[in-house]
Amino acid sequence: MSKFAELYIDGNTYKLPIIEGTEEERGLDISKLRAETGLITLDIGFKNTGSTKSEITFLDGEKGILRYRGYPIEQLAEQSSFLEVAYLLIYGHLPARAEYEKMVSEIKKEWLVHEDIKTILTGFPADAHPMGVLSSLVTAQTAFFPESLDPYRSADKVNKTIMRLMAKMPTMVAWSYTRSKGRLSNYPNNNLGYVENFLSMMFATKAETYDADPVIVDAMDKVFILHADHEQNCSTSTVRVVGSSHASLYASVAAGVNALWGPLHGGANQKVIEMLNEILVNGGDLTKYIDKAKNPDDPFRLMGFGHRVYKNFDPRAQILKKSADKVFERLGVDDPMLEIAKKLEEVALKDEYFVERKLYPNVDFYSGIIMKTIGIPIEMFPVMFSIGRLPGWIAQWKEMRENHEPIGRPRQIYNGAKKRDYVLMDKR
Ligand code: CMC
Repeated sequence: MSKFAELYIDGNTYKLPIIEGTEEERGLDISKLRAETGLITLDIGFKNTGSTKSEITFLDGEKGILRYRGYPIEQLAEQSSFLEVAYLLIYGHLPARAEYEKMVSEIKKEWLVHEDIKTILTGFPADAHPMGVLSSLVTAQTAFFPESLDPYRSADKVNKTIMRLMAKMPTMVAWSYTRSKGRLSNYPNNNLGYVENFLSMMFATKAETYDADPVIVDAMDKVFILHADHEQNCSTSTVRVVGSSHASLYASVAAGVNALWGPLHGGANQKVIEMLNEILVNGGDLTKYIDKAKNPDDPFRLMGFGHRVYKNFDPRAQILKKSADKVFERLGVDDPMLEIAKKLEEVALKDEYFVERKLYPNVDFYSGIIMKTIGIPIEMFPVMFSIGRLPGWIAQWKEMRENHEPIGRPRQIYNGAKKRDYVLMDKR
């Protein structure tokens, strides 16, 4: 039986349908509100606004649950691989072996990027921020593949665009990194898997190949899986809104990269390492920093702690903590910064302030530490996040287009000047 909520406005009663998701999440359907009442809703920051119905990712922040297409993140991180998860997110089911192999082969056919990309790259200053470079290169793909601009092309052609982006993104990232180091670009190697190939393109030099340690490959694979989707976050909503104007997949994802770039979104992993560095160079006095974080008059926060949605624990952080330990053990790491990180975690988890507010280490605390240990440069951390988030952006873009969602166009409450007459300049 349909359920309704009743809304009383100026003596009139309006019925708003209550809709329920598969996990019993409930929402009010206000799609006819303006037509029926003349009113809109106001929800700055969209804290209470569902922008879409989606079948891709479910999360329950109170219970620490994250599932892609129904599969728990713990099982996927343990048993699956990033490319398999990408397939699952984009196409909605776990790939059969033949489907998986077809995807891998399509990616390998496409992971080389056009040589002219190098011309674009050399136009940037060598110290340009890698996120700006990446978003430009992703947009530039529209010039190399103009058919992607046709919003009404066949599903096969859309899939080709999707595979191209999955294939070329790591190459573009690696080339922008080697360019920033003044080194030659490495080409993809068809004998390697997706993650190994990426690490090799990043770190191999003319003088030395880079044979990635399986523990490192596994850790990076998990980092990518755990970042692959997080329902309607800032960058994903951006991708959907940009795509809703029928902009191409490349243009929509480039917008997502730009949204992710902001320090409130994809930049926290970088901030974790910068904070640990600061603690270290200032003599490693943890109490001082814990006190600073607790002081309401001090803007300092323990980076990598707390989460807007996860209020008990971040399931991604629990998985990455184990992964981080394996990486430390394998690499025999003796880094004073890691000691600081471990102590900080220990002290904060016992401190009443953090316990009361349910502030636990989040995914960025451990992903930052893992990437630092592997040797990924700090400014590249948000770029790694982009590679991980790519399948989620693609899946959400595809879902939005397949559901024929209308152009995203919020309303507003106008708060400015009332009508007034133009005044000539010399009379102002
Ligand atoms: N250090 C010290 N105090 C904190 C912290 C922290 N990291 N996080 C929250 N608090 C305090 C905050 O001051 C407030 O205290 P009070 O109740 O006394 O005013 C209380 O905890 C609740 O904080 P809030 O700001 O209302 O919580 P929020 O849900 O709006 O913020 C957050 C979530 C992630 C922005 C915040 O915890 C934070 O700034 N953390 C550090 C940055 C970080 O690690 N971000 C990565 C998030 S994980 C990546 C992702 O999934 O997007």
